[in-house]
Amino acid sequence: MEKQQKSSHVVLVMVNFQGHITPMLQLASILHSKGFSITIVHPEFNSPNPSNHPEFTFISIPDKLTESHFSDKDAASPVWSLNKNCAAPLQQCLEKILHSLHHIAAVIYDTLMYSAQTITEDLGLLGIVLRTGSATTMLFYPAFSQLDEERIGIIIGIANTCFLDFVYEIKSPELEALQLKRLRALLSQNATKAMTEVRVAFANVLKRSSAIIVNSMEFLELEALSKVKQYFPAPIITIGPLHKFAPAVCSSLLTEDDKCISWLNKQAPKSVIYVSFGSIANIDKQELIEIAWGLSSSKQPFLWVVRPGMVSGSEWIESLPNGFEESVGERGCIVKWAPQKEVLAHAAVGGFWTHCGWNSTIESICEGVPMLCRPFFGDQYLNTSSICNVWKIGLEVQNLERGNIERTIKRLMVDMEGNGIRKRAIDLKEKAAFYLMEEGSTSCSLNMLIKRILSV
Ligand code: UDX
Repeated sequence: MEKQQKSSHVVLVMVNFQGHITPMLQLASILHSKGFSITIVHPEFNSPNPSNHPEFTFISIPDKLTESHFSDKDAASPVWSLNKNCAAPLQQCLEKILHSLHHIAAVIYDTLMYSAQTITEDLGLLGIVLRTGSATTMLFYPAFSQLDEERIGIIIGIANTCFLDFVYEIKSPELEALQLKRLRALLSQNATKAMTEVRVAFANVLKRSSAIIVNSMEFLELEALSKVKQYFPAPIITIGPLHKFAPAVCSSLLTEDDKCISWLNKQAPKSVIYVSFGSIANIDKQELIEIAWGLSSSKQPFLWVVRPGMVSGSEWIESLPNGFEESVGERGCIVKWAPQKEVLAHAAVGGFWTHCGWNSTIESICEGVPMLCRPFFGDQYLNTSSICNVWKIGLEVQNLERGNIERTIKRLMVDMEGNGIRKRAIDLKEKAAFYLMEEGSTSCSLNMLIKRILSV
């Protein structure tokens, strides 16, 4: 593939949540390797460390976010505020870059920073959206783009009926398997004003952007992707899994604790259950206790990530029950943050108990690790359904009760019942490896993106 002139400048608009920083930096590093100059514009909160990426220019814009935005139970609230507060600074920032460089080849923005699309249009720039979640989740947005203010209000009142009726109309075995009835109930709980407005905005940018980049693999979401292509006019560019193309990108906001790798080195092959609920999900003290006893009685070795502050009302793991540490001894390892990709690729890891964030999901698929699923919010429910009902490579932990946790771990990792799941996880890993090796598929997508960027 040809290298571009360094003069082709791409601005990436990043949103500083861990699950969004990582794929954006990976994309930046791929484009840089193809010869593009990169500027990353990002809100102030959770700023990435520029010294980890001397090859990029970082510009921070004021976001006026406070702690209260994040403690809000409504996950859409910080996203809504971010767009409202960052729109003007982002516009000024892009104008400044344009003034000094005279040309920006493209602005690639995270779906969460949807206000970037209007700004790029106003400045006559090419706006491309990066969808960091699955392609399947995009099927939920088209209905929203047709709604006016009044109907949005009605929908908030009647729990998203129109939106989900639209989804029901998409008849296909793969999508039926996503247990849409259950999703209907779960999604309707989230129908706050901010959430509905954010969903409408997502739908609009997906319709208006010049291209949609998706961090996924064609074979993984074949049917969903073909439906997505019918609903969105822009070319859908599937260039995943990004972490396999840009594996060396350092993007963690927390420090990775490498001691867990030496602990893993001492464990038997495929014996360890790795437990991590990503960068945002929180649990309460009782849930911590149930998970602890569930892990203890499963008798499997476990590596457990408990982020500082993840347990509500605790600094770290001081609420672990008395007698827990003695009961597990060397069989358990608890860290604040792990080098997750390395952990999942380790021979000792035989299962991943995850919150089903999209990055964790594709990282696990690429390493052939079967999953236990405990979704907390948003796309995690849909990813859980794909893992358990479409790809059939995982089991859902239905409730956080110690006996149930123990049984579900054993079903996944030891029991005969888990044989099929474990085998399908390996099969999917092999398919992913084949897809990555295959001549053409990924470089073709990348070429498509480069062509698009250079088209204006
Ligand atoms: C968020 C949302 O919660 C998720 O639903 C959405 O799909 C993406 O944005 P997050 O909760 O952080 O993401 O989950 P996930 O998408 O799985 O991303 C977490 C990232 O952190 C992964 O790349 C994972 O490898 C990394 N990680 C996690 C570590 O490096 N170490 C850890 O200890 C835990």
